[in-house]
Amino acid sequence: MKTNPSQYTITAALPYTNGPIHIGHLAGVYVPADIYARYQRLQQRDVAFICGSDEHGVAIPMRAKKEGVSPQEIIDKYHTLIKDSFEEFGISFDNYSRTSSPVHHETASNFFRKMYEEGHFTEQVTEQLYDEEAQQFLADRFVVGTCPKCGYEESYGDQCERCGTSHNATDLIDPKSTITGDVPVLKETKHWFLPLDQYEGFLKEWILKDHKKDWKLNVYGQCKSWIDDGLRPRAVTRDLDWGIPVPVEGAEGKVLYVWFDAPIGYISSTKEWAEREGKDWEQYWKDEDTKLLHFIGKDNIVFHCIIFPSMLKAEGSYVLPDNVPANEFMNLEGNKISTSKNWAVWLHEYLKEFPNQQDVLRYVLTANAPETKDNDFTWADFQARNNNELVAIFGNFINRVVVLTHKYYDGEIPTPGNFAGIDVQTLKELAAYPDVIASSIERYRFREAQQQLMNVARLGNKYLADEEPWKTIKTDEERTKTVMFTALQIATALAVLSEPFLPFTSTKLKQILNIDSDAFNNLSWNTITSSSPSEGEVAAPSLEGSAVGGDVSLLPPGHTINKADLLFSKIEDETISQQLEKLKKTKMDNAAEKEIAKNIVPQKETIQFDDFTKLDMRIGTIIEAEKMPKADRLLVLKVDTGIDTRTIVSGIAESFSPEEIIGKKVTVLVNLAPRKLRGVESQGMILMTETADGKLRFVNPDGEDIENGAAIN
Ligand code: MF3
Ligand code: ZN
Repeated sequence: MKTNPSQYTITAALPYTNGPIHIGHLAGVYVPADIYARYQRLQQRDVAFICGSDEHGVAIPMRAKKEGVSPQEIIDKYHTLIKDSFEEFGISFDNYSRTSSPVHHETASNFFRKMYEEGHFTEQVTEQLYDEEAQQFLADRFVVGTCPKCGYEESYGDQCERCGTSHNATDLIDPKSTITGDVPVLKETKHWFLPLDQYEGFLKEWILKDHKKDWKLNVYGQCKSWIDDGLRPRAVTRDLDWGIPVPVEGAEGKVLYVWFDAPIGYISSTKEWAEREGKDWEQYWKDEDTKLLHFIGKDNIVFHCIIFPSMLKAEGSYVLPDNVPANEFMNLEGNKISTSKNWAVWLHEYLKEFPNQQDVLRYVLTANAPETKDNDFTWADFQARNNNELVAIFGNFINRVVVLTHKYYDGEIPTPGNFAGIDVQTLKELAAYPDVIASSIERYRFREAQQQLMNVARLGNKYLADEEPWKTIKTDEERTKTVMFTALQIATALAVLSEPFLPFTSTKLKQILNIDSDAFNNLSWNTITSSSPSEGEVAAPSLEGSAVGGDVSLLPPGHTINKADLLFSKIEDETISQQLEKLKKTKMDNAAEKEIAKNIVPQKETIQFDDFTKLDMRIGTIIEAEKMPKADRLLVLKVDTGIDTRTIVSGIAESFSPEEIIGKKVTVLVNLAPRKLRGVESQGMILMTETADGKLRFVNPDGEDIENGAAIN
């Protein structure tokens, strides 16, 4: 673990541009990454916070097909939507790039070429799964089958979504094409493989030894189990037409595997940023003093802990990640979040429906962050945390302090008198919080860190409740000044310490306290730590002294603050029911869709035109109908087919009475070989269909004027 790095390269998983961002992405990856990056910037550390869109891979053309547009239209649409919503949500990326950019194509191609030239790949002609009908090789999401490790039946070709294992498509048991549903055949093709087995020694040393202590248990555990199972060569190229062309000879029609190119996207995005900012990108990737961190969800662990590090190691000039603080998953109202089932709270919709309430969602997602196990987001909890914590604790404290300061002192910070024991103790406690919060953040415990932040507000509330300045103002003006001065120091600390978690609130609070000007640049995380007085002392208040440490104030007497402005507002039941209604509707839509899907049987095998012309179907009229004795389902019909009048036994007695169908025009398959049913020879078949609720209907001709015997063709 690097403790005093010269620069931090912080990456957040590149989202696929096949759908918008939802709360699961935010809670698992982007909010914690943002808290971390903001915190390090507040510590004056040199930070590159890097992200971008992941625009290759099979997910993109699949989505394009579903929406009936081109892959390019898909990536443009979602790249813009994702980028804009991240920005509005306050995710403070230094750069948000995309893997379709020229700089990325070049960087990824060069990376591959260098590894190729130095002999890090093995070239193999192997048999791969092939869909004969679609005339396409099947890899990744184009094929599903049973996971050889955990038995999950819907595992993708490259990775099992249930157990996280990454495998080769040919490892799947009972593979099936997701394009045609066909069982694939094996067909030979040439690919380049990363011989992961050769990296076992390196990975054992690097993860199992060096990072046993500092990596999260869930991350370490997954890595250990894969390494213990034995690693095998993985193909890093694909037979596809969407992706980065394999940049070597003899690789026409092949592209880089998306998981080969995507992590290199972190590097390309850093290059783009450095170019714009006049920095040296290599410092952020190759300097030994760089702390490289990957914020990801648990389904990405294998790629960031096994495959990408092996690539970096092979290439040779890069640093390895110092940590990969992967989170577990966030569920929504008890069910797994799903893009395809629309079971999600979408960021772009939240931003519209809850304008200027970014921090509420940030707060709730951090309070429930799935750091060690899967967690659940519920709207009831969202409301409760807003109303009972943000409004009642944080907002209430600030509001009381600001309102009283205006009421008693016209908004001017009073000069404190002698500090009493309780004041000193409170300010000492306050001074300890920055380190406590920092320590939690440094260990990727963001829930804990945010709880400590709220404890600062609790400290303020308790102090006011105990010292009751609204009472002492009538009896002891000196004492009241000291109390209000002390409370204002807590408010100021909150403005600083809340920035990583609640950046919009922090900005607003700094405006209220009138500390958003350059004059307050000195005010930082560390100023708070070094600013507590001792008992009986009269504060010698000047911010300039803060660097020296000791007895200085954060907010000096004489400074004037602005009027109160609500930081948070109560969320009403009505708002919550609307969201729940929305989810209920999704559930009903899904159920209805499922119902429909159940009734629509898959298309049968293709037939030739000759097969069709063998069927002789005619229009006819039912002229007689009676129940078949002792058979509930059967009617014996006499049908005028135009050729003759014949007997047909039909299984429709549960849907029709004999009387109601006499005279009906129907469609008859007349050349079906006769067969006996209950001793009666049936000489044809009446065409029927079934409605969604299971009722039978005749396939009628369109109009009574069509004569019996008219052929269907
Ligand atoms: N697009 C991937 C996902 O959403 C994450 C890619 S991370 C990167 O699961 F390392 F490849 F960039
Ligand atoms: Zn599995």
